Amino acid sequence: MSEPITVVGQLARDLVLVLDGDLPPTGSSGRVRERREQLGGKGANQAVALAQLGARPLLVAVAGDDAAGDALLAQARTDGIDVSAVVRRAGVPTGLIVELLRERNRWRYLEHLPDEVQLSAADIAAADRAFAGAAAVLVQLQQPEAAALAAARRARDAGALVVLDGAPPPAIRAEILALADVVRADAQETRLLTGKPGDDPAAALALLERGPRVVALAFDEGNRFAWRGPGPDTETLTLPLGDTAVVDTTGGGDAFIAALTVALLRGDPVPEAARLAVAASGATVGHVSGRPDLRGLA
Ligand SMILES: Nc1ncnc2c1ncn2[C@@H]1O[C@H](COP(=O)(O)OP(=O)(O)O)[C@@H](O)[C@H]1O
Ligand SMILES: [Mg+2]
Repeated sequence: MSEPITVVGQLARDLVLVLDGDLPPTGSSGRVRERREQLGGKGANQAVALAQLGARPLLVAVAGDDAAGDALLAQARTDGIDVSAVVRRAGVPTGLIVELLRERNRWRYLEHLPDEVQLSAADIAAADRAFAGAAAVLVQLQQPEAAALAAARRARDAGALVVLDGAPPPAIRAEILALADVVRADAQETRLLTGKPGDDPAAALALLERGPRVVALAFDEGNRFAWRGPGPDTETLTLPLGDTAVVDTTGGGDAFIAALTVALLRGDPVPEAARLAVAASGATVGHVSGRPDLRGLA
């Protein structure tokens, strides 16, 4: 069997409430049209996407030692995720993300993700086995910077493909970009990171100079890819969004980065990997919630 792909990221209960109208005013109640209660969090969603694409995901995350944690890990195992490196934190409730969704992508998130359910650098050190044999390590940057940096360092030492999703905070930015092979940012993260929109050619070029060999930046109408080719020149490709009618963009980026990683690992040329990534996000934004369904793309 192939080597695992390790995902370093968030695991949480995901409660999605689809509302008919606006939030009810204080002192009144409103109707929920539809609800989902499921495995969620960016790390878990990326791992689900990897499994659906035929890879072997290994998740490094934190769960509480409560019944919710038991149920989520059972779901993750059913999804084909190796959860042996998930930390069960004693006396801590598993993280919770409530998504309130109104029609056509008007979402709000309410997150209960206290420090105790975030990964620490010590958790990364204790999960050493999860890095030793990994083909790639996906580091999701919405977590404490010490943990993200420790994970990227360990992944680099292990010779894995180092993939970052998000905007590294200033304190670790230079070092973590230098450790990375692939960097992907959504439209907002791209502005934070480069001060430019993702379709500005200078944005991706500036990032490529800082370490990674493949960069994928979102902008409002599409995604721009830039990579170091075999020759001296940098190659670029801009792909429009798919024609999916968007219901909920939640998880679109997580599916995107999972697909990009799988395709690059198996040796697809960057343009093909890019097309699979955009197809994966397109297959995720057309339905409610961040849980991907990429089985049609495997
Ligand atoms: N119609 C579409 N087809 C394909 N991709 C889309 C479409 N609409 C949005 N996307 C992509 O979805 C992604 C959403 O990313 P992001 O905001 O990081 O989501 P999350 O962090 O919840 O996974 C972006 O890369 C965007 O380009
Ligand atoms: Mg994202």
